[in-house]
Amino acid sequence: MSLKIGDKLTLTINDVAFGGEGVGRIDDFVVFVPFVLVGESVATEITEVKKNFARAKLLRVEKPSPERVAPECRYFGACGGCQYQHIAYPVQLRLKHKQIADLFERVGKIPADKIAPVIPCPQPYGYRNRIMIRSQWNKPEQKLNIGFIRADCGLVEDIEECKIAEPALNEQILHVRAHPPPKGGIKVMLRVQPEDWDVPPDSFFQNNFFLLPKLVETVREFLRGSGARHLIDLYCGVGFFGIELADAVESFVGVEYDQRAIQSARKNAAARKIAAGEFLPAKVEEVLPELLQKFSPEKTAVILDPPRKGCQPEILRLLRETGPAQVIYVSCHPATMARDLNVLCADGVFDIARVQPLDMFPQTQHVECVADLRAGQNLAKPQILDSTVSTHGDGNAN
Ligand SMILES: C[S@@+](CC[C@H](N)C(=O)[O-])C[C@H]1O[C@@H](n2cnc3c(N)ncnc32)[C@H](O)[C@@H]1O
Repeated sequence: MSLKIGDKLTLTINDVAFGGEGVGRIDDFVVFVPFVLVGESVATEITEVKKNFARAKLLRVEKPSPERVAPECRYFGACGGCQYQHIAYPVQLRLKHKQIADLFERVGKIPADKIAPVIPCPQPYGYRNRIMIRSQWNKPEQKLNIGFIRADCGLVEDIEECKIAEPALNEQILHVRAHPPPKGGIKVMLRVQPEDWDVPPDSFFQNNFFLLPKLVETVREFLRGSGARHLIDLYCGVGFFGIELADAVESFVGVEYDQRAIQSARKNAAARKIAAGEFLPAKVEEVLPELLQKFSPEKTAVILDPPRKGCQPEILRLLRETGPAQVIYVSCHPATMARDLNVLCADGVFDIARVQPLDMFPQTQHVECVADLRAGQNLAKPQILDSTVSTHGDGNAN
């Protein structure tokens, strides 16, 4: 198929892929189109041609799906923050379920029947408690743009409000616009502090308060199912999971390399009079070997809630060699999660009991997943390795 940039095509969409783009075909050649739905016929213009696929922009929806709805945001389509505002919310949930099931089957070798239906967010707009806005000098218009990166290029779309952000953040956006940064290229993090949690300004906290009770309930139910008595909460931030689940175990340890987050975790535990836990300011890879020796594996559950890049191979290897009774993997990045689950479960070392997706990010391509892994019949044989542990860069999720 010899397509070139600028070609105009009418396509029928037969899938919406993980990442949010619709999939159309010319003969067998795949063309990705954003902001479409399965079954739609759309007029498009080719914007990029690669060896195995092309990308096109949406010009017009010729035959709309009955599941198409009017987006609430006037910037939808231009702003790069949301991909799914044109899709009715229940359909977004079904779509995310299919995408997760396909991805986990392909990359994680996890059967689709292990993936539970996606838990909806009770508030599909106005939910986000943290956003990053950017400033950029708009040369042609001789003005400062303040907003989010555009969907079609790296430029900043000037915005006055964000429909998925909490109302308090929209007031903060107006404040930034009234007192703009003196030049372009500045990033400003806006957030609503959670009630009852001490969180330093730059530390991680889950960014949807409305679905947090369900997230905790899911992890609690998994933990209860294994009957583990000790909890190792890795990548613990300000102690969220360890503290929320302290009453379900005899003892817990949280590990986090953000020193200020650890100070807050200790304050958060003290404020709730929780004494059965400790928090270690350390890199997971540095303390995990010792921690796994400290508790008997058959009584121990490990929570993994790593940044988007997932876990280092070294961490997965240690878990495979020690075989704690349960690993609960929490992630907002299903692709790296599926990769890591595949490693953990290879040769029957761990078995997947269930994966629970939660829609922490309505209107966007993102979804949170929690996986319940139980120790299988086999332990991996210890490997003799160089004692130096490779450390990748760091970075918080979302
Ligand atoms: C997705 S957040 C999870 C935080 C926490 N579990 C929560 O629910 O609030 C990932 C956390 O891992 C921390 N982190 C990233 N790499 C780390 C490492 N190698 N060792 C320890 N902590 C790390 C980050 O600072 C961040 O707080």
